[in-house]
Amino acid sequence: MLPPLLVPSILAGDHARLADSVALVERVGLRWIHLDIMDGHFVPNLTFGPGTVAALRRSSRLFFDVHLMLDEPQRYVEPFAEAGASLISVHLEPSYDHTGTLARIRQLGCQCGLVLNPDTPAAVAEPFLGGVDLVLVMTVQPGFGGQSFRRALLPKIAQFADWRRERGLAFRIEVDGGIDLATATECRAADADTFVAGTSFFDAADPAGFAAAFAKI
Ligand code: DX5
Ligand code: ZN
Repeated sequence: MLPPLLVPSILAGDHARLADSVALVERVGLRWIHLDIMDGHFVPNLTFGPGTVAALRRSSRLFFDVHLMLDEPQRYVEPFAEAGASLISVHLEPSYDHTGTLARIRQLGCQCGLVLNPDTPAAVAEPFLGGVDLVLVMTVQPGFGGQSFRRALLPKIAQFADWRRERGLAFRIEVDGGIDLATATECRAADADTFVAGTSFFDAADPAGFAAAFAKI
């Protein structure tokens, strides 16, 4: 099993000083940062676009884990790849060419991920598993940080872990929403390896201590 990877979500960072929030993640020795992109259609909220990602890329070498919450993600994979995304995740729920978009992300030199909302059954993602680097199981309804973890999603995480093992695949299993040390421990027991944490990381009194504790879950 992969060691637990803590991925702070900049959604909970300081949006007047995003570069400082990225620098904090780097300073505590973490390798990945999660960038939430929202379009006001797929989710009822807005964040930022490729221009901001490109600006952050100029001062950071972190792995940029870009989570597209968009109705038409296929239109935006190229600008985000050019902006410096390392991995781009797209949701299953909207209708577009999922297989073609995942392949395009890889062709652009990025890793690709597939995301499921809480109410989307694991079976819908199952045909795509051979062509993804990461499956992101949303543990809240996407759109806002600071929501409560939904424990009912644990069996879905375990289902992806079973398929991964049975088929000898190597995709990461990422969880996002309401993740703190306690809920991450539960997800870890279901074989998740990649943990997005917004509020719990950026609101921690001691982010370095939080990251150190996280490494031991
Ligand atoms: C929610 C986003 C999350 C968000 C998580 O739509 O996808 O990445 O930042 O925030 P917390 O960790 O506060 O639940
Ligand atoms: Zn996210």
